[in-house]
Amino acid sequence: MKHRLILLISPLLILPLIFFYECRSNKYIPDVCFQTNVLPIFISKCTTGGCHTGSGKDDEGRSDLTNYEGIMRQVKPYYPLFSEVYTKCSGISPEMPPKSSAKLTTTELEYIKYWIHTGAKNTSNCDGKACDSTNLSFTNRIMPILNTWCVGCHNATTAGGGFDFTSYDGVVACIAPDNRLSGSIHKLTGYSAMPKDGNMSDCEIKVIQKWIDTNYPNN
Ligand code: HEC
Repeated sequence: MKHRLILLISPLLILPLIFFYECRSNKYIPDVCFQTNVLPIFISKCTTGGCHTGSGKDDEGRSDLTNYEGIMRQVKPYYPLFSEVYTKCSGISPEMPPKSSAKLTTTELEYIKYWIHTGAKNTSNCDGKACDSTNLSFTNRIMPILNTWCVGCHNATTAGGGFDFTSYDGVVACIAPDNRLSGSIHKLTGYSAMPKDGNMSDCEIKVIQKWIDTNYPNN
């Protein structure tokens, strides 16, 4: 009798623990944007090497993860733990991507999870307001973007690739002679894709590029 009682109430004891763990591991990421923050993760981690491309399912039954519609076939909006795109890639021993490929990072998983959690909407151009690409002041527009995305790894003590972006001269050293700055923010082949651990918005990339194209004024 006693055993039966324990058996009966044990799920009740375990559930709050799971719930507690889930809440604790939820990191609040404001304004997750599908096009900027979520789609690039699937493109870079799931569609390379011919996997998860094509419409519907490919020859080997792998679903298409190159676009919103394809991804949504494995998403239950508001319920990340019931969404295959999330559950298959998370946990201690994720089923996907296969062992030979790079796993999704904790930050990437948090983006996906939070995006599903808030309704899995097909959001794009999420800068809040229309992209202002008229203000190209180095001090007021370019530096704040670099401070947000780059300076943590590109400063006097840690100068990734030898580039220190804490001063105008430091930034210019990355433009002339071979404009590695443009190559890296557009993630072109032959350049290291930057920022290393995130994605700038389309607007931020556009603004930096326009500043470079107008001969990068120091204003
Ligand atoms: C998490 C750290 C990190 C962040 C954030 C980061 N970088 Fe880098 N960056 C590096 C490291 C390390 C290297 C050198 C190794 C390499 O090229 O991957 C580098 C190299 C570069 C290079 C040379 C690439 C090449 O192909 O020669 C450029 C240009 C660059 N970063 C620009 C940026 C810009 C612009 C940002 C912000 C939008 C940024 N980085 C954000 C760590 C970072």
